[in-house]
Amino acid sequence: MADLILGIETSCDETAAAVVEGREKIRSNIVASQAALHAPYGGIVPELASRRHLEMIGPVTRLAVQEAGITFDDLTGLAVTVGPGLVGSLLVGVSTAKALAYTLGKPLVAVNHIEGHLHAGLLDHPHLECPYVALVASGGHTHLYHAETPGKYRLLGCTRDDAAGEAFDKVAKILGLSYPGGPHIEQVAKTGDPRAVPLPRPTLGHGSLDFSFSGLKTAVIHYLEEKGFREPRRRGATRTKTPDPQLVPLDPPLVADIAASFQQAVVDVLTRNAIKAAKHVRAPRILLTGGVACNQSLRQQLATRAIRDEIEVYWPRPTLCTDNAAMIAAAGSARLGRGEAASLDLNAAADLPLC
Ligand code: KG4
Ligand code: ZN
Repeated sequence: MADLILGIETSCDETAAAVVEGREKIRSNIVASQAALHAPYGGIVPELASRRHLEMIGPVTRLAVQEAGITFDDLTGLAVTVGPGLVGSLLVGVSTAKALAYTLGKPLVAVNHIEGHLHAGLLDHPHLECPYVALVASGGHTHLYHAETPGKYRLLGCTRDDAAGEAFDKVAKILGLSYPGGPHIEQVAKTGDPRAVPLPRPTLGHGSLDFSFSGLKTAVIHYLEEKGFREPRRRGATRTKTPDPQLVPLDPPLVADIAASFQQAVVDVLTRNAIKAAKHVRAPRILLTGGVACNQSLRQQLATRAIRDEIEVYWPRPTLCTDNAAMIAAAGSARLGRGEAASLDLNAAADLPLC
């Protein structure tokens, strides 16, 4: 039988464990979401996240092994996310994985969360060959990489402020929609006009593949102020990182128009830079991954535009786009296969870069 790897992922607000056989056969994939816990706050509360991880990590890990139809002794090794992410959350997964590896006497390998997102694409498209450009768009990251050869990545561009998913979450909060905002904005945008609200498509200098999304959120706030739905912010008033929700309820048609216009602006910018990146490095393929890759408008627009340049576009199924541990097990399996292993003094790294 091929290697059986237990993956553990706790970098953000999902407690996840999965067993992957070989590089691509998912034997189990358990995700305990904390979305309802953080929903009242419109974003993740790190202290609550780590406490909930502590409660869930034992049951989720046991269930992953049980659903895979194996015992802990059958495992070949373990893979755990070490970063980037919330340090308190990461530490729960890292400590659990180290304890299990020590008790079972099995090898442990450290996985970068972003590399996990890239392997999510490979789980569903095992024949996706390098070179390709990967767009990782999630709540914490908006990064463009050139995957030149397996396991070798070069950063081509990234966000200079908010991540794309973070922008969806913040604009959803402004519009009075629930957390996580992406799926809710996508849903209400279906009845809106994407040209109703003029919003910017920021470029960051000629040739740059970087992104900026915080101006979009500000443009939505200014639009609501101009229309009289929000109090204009007074000069010298304290700026809060995340704007407060509306005091005046917004009409559903207005919410739909703003959601559709905002979604179109994000999709335009992501599509533009992904295709520019692929043309720049002459990559014939683009892999779209991360939570925002669930967005149907983004998938459709990117695939349609890419045809002109004879670029193929791939994305994983939605449950592999959002955070999960199967992608961590798959990335770990490749690393273990290359003879890598972590020692038991492994530590979490909140800002770990991929390359
Ligand atoms: O990959 P993920 O589960 O976690 C991180 O690594 O951050 O991504 C979660 C993010 C959230 O910001 C969520 O709003 C966004 O992905 N998201 C979406 C959609 N589904 C999830 N954004 C746009 N459209 C969607 N359908
Ligand atoms: Zn993620």
